[in-house]
Amino acid sequence: MDETILHRKSQRYFSKEELQEDCIRKIQEEILEVNAESGFTIEFVEDGSRAFSRFGKSYGLFKNVRSLLLLKGNPGQPHFREKIGYYGEKLLLFAEGLGLSTCWVGGTFDRESFSYAEEEHVQAVILLGYAGDGGLRGKLFHSLLPTKKKDWTARIEGDRAYPKWVKEGMEAVALAPSALNKQKPFFHYHNGIVTATVENSYEMDLVDLGIAKLHFVLGVGCGHFVPGNGGEFAPED
Ligand SMILES: Cc1cc2nc3c(=O)[nH]c(=O)nc-3n(C[C@H](O)[C@H](O)[C@H](O)COP(=O)(O)O)c2cc1C
Repeated sequence: MDETILHRKSQRYFSKEELQEDCIRKIQEEILEVNAESGFTIEFVEDGSRAFSRFGKSYGLFKNVRSLLLLKGNPGQPHFREKIGYYGEKLLLFAEGLGLSTCWVGGTFDRESFSYAEEEHVQAVILLGYAGDGGLRGKLFHSLLPTKKKDWTARIEGDRAYPKWVKEGMEAVALAPSALNKQKPFFHYHNGIVTATVENSYEMDLVDLGIAKLHFVLGVGCGHFVPGNGGEFAPED
C-alpha cells in the first residue's frame, strides 16, 4: 500500500508556517500537468485565507488556513464532478508526498472571495499546509466528527472470493476521504470486471466517486477507470 494513502487524514488546523518556495514550485508544475490532461483551470492560491475568514463560514472548524488549491473548470465538460474528484485527489496525494497536510473542503468556504471566469465553477478547495494544533476547540470538534471508516468488504459486492488485486484496490478505496465521511462509492465485481457506482443525491457524491476510483487504481498499481457512474475498471494503463 502506498504510504501516502495509508497515513493521510484530513487536517483542519495548520501552523502559521508558509509553504516553502521549492514546494510551491513543485505543486505548480504538477497542476500544469493535471490541467493539460483534464482541461481544468485548477489554481494554486498562496493566500486563500479570505475564503475562511468570514464569521459563520467556517468558525471554529479550521485554523490558520492560508494556501489552497482552487478546484475549478467548466462545469459543462463531461463528468465534471467526478474528474474534479479524481484530479483533485491526485494533487492532494502529490502534496501529501511533499510532506504537507491537506483537507478537501466542499462547503464551508466563501467561493465569492475568489475571482474566476463566469463560465467556471469552483467545485471545492483543498487546503495545504503544515499541521498545527486545534487546541481544545479543535479536539471537541474532532470528537464530534464521524471519522470511522467502513471495512473494504462493506463497499463491494459480487463474485467471491475476491482476487488479490481487487482486495488491494479496495483497501485503498477504504482509506479515501469522502464528503461528510459518507463513504458512498460502491464497487461491484462480476465475471472478472470491476465497476464503481455511487447513489448520486448530493453535490459531492460524484466527486467522492472520482476520488474512490483513483484510490482503486493506485491500490491495484495499474489500470484506469472508464469515466461515469458505473464505469468499468480496465487493467491496462
Ligand atoms: C469532496 C469532499 C468535500 C469535503 N468537504 C469538507 C468540508 O466542507 N468541511 C470539512 O471540514 N471537511 C470536508 N471534507 C473532509 C471529510 O470530512 C473527510 O474526508 C472525512 O471526514 C474522512 O476523514 P479523513 O479525510 O481524515 O479520512 C470533505 C471531503 C471530501 C472528499
